[in-house]
Amino acid sequence: MHIAVIDGPNLNLLGVREPERYGTATLAQVHAAVKTRAAALGVEVSFFQSNHEGALVDAIQALRGAADGALVNAAAYTHTSLAVRDALLAVQVPFVEVHLTNVHARDEVRRRSLLADLAVGVVAGFGADSYVLALEALTGWLRRAAGGASGVVRV
Ligand code: DQA
Repeated sequence: MHIAVIDGPNLNLLGVREPERYGTATLAQVHAAVKTRAAALGVEVSFFQSNHEGALVDAIQALRGAADGALVNAAAYTHTSLAVRDALLAVQVPFVEVHLTNVHARDEVRRRSLLADLAVGVVAGFGADSYVLALEALTGWLRRAAGGASGVVRV
């Protein structure tokens, strides 16, 4: 099983960006924690980060036939990007929307997600652990889906 992790704008600055809000772990450290958990779960993971909306759209389009699922932290594009939404709709790859912070406890504009209704689920508010929790949850979901409805998911 292959799960792709897609990170949006400014997440490359994790560790130095508003550390009181986003924590001190770098994106590389967050990804290392995901890799460790993925190895224990027997899941293959890949990582992509971009600050550019079109590059994120390209990465989502490339999921088709290449990934069984995705963890998507589209960062600010979560709240604004119809293009990211449309790409996720187009590829139909099951994904979890991930956020380090609890977006529902922040400013009004962050309470709106253009992606959440398409997601299998949303994990928000647990810092770097949000990614690991999302990986665990999506792996379980995909394994159950593969064991249930015929041929929905490759494992
Ligand atoms: C974020 C929340 C977004 O509102 C924000 O724009 C980010 C990070 C999070 O992980 O908490 O860049 O997606």
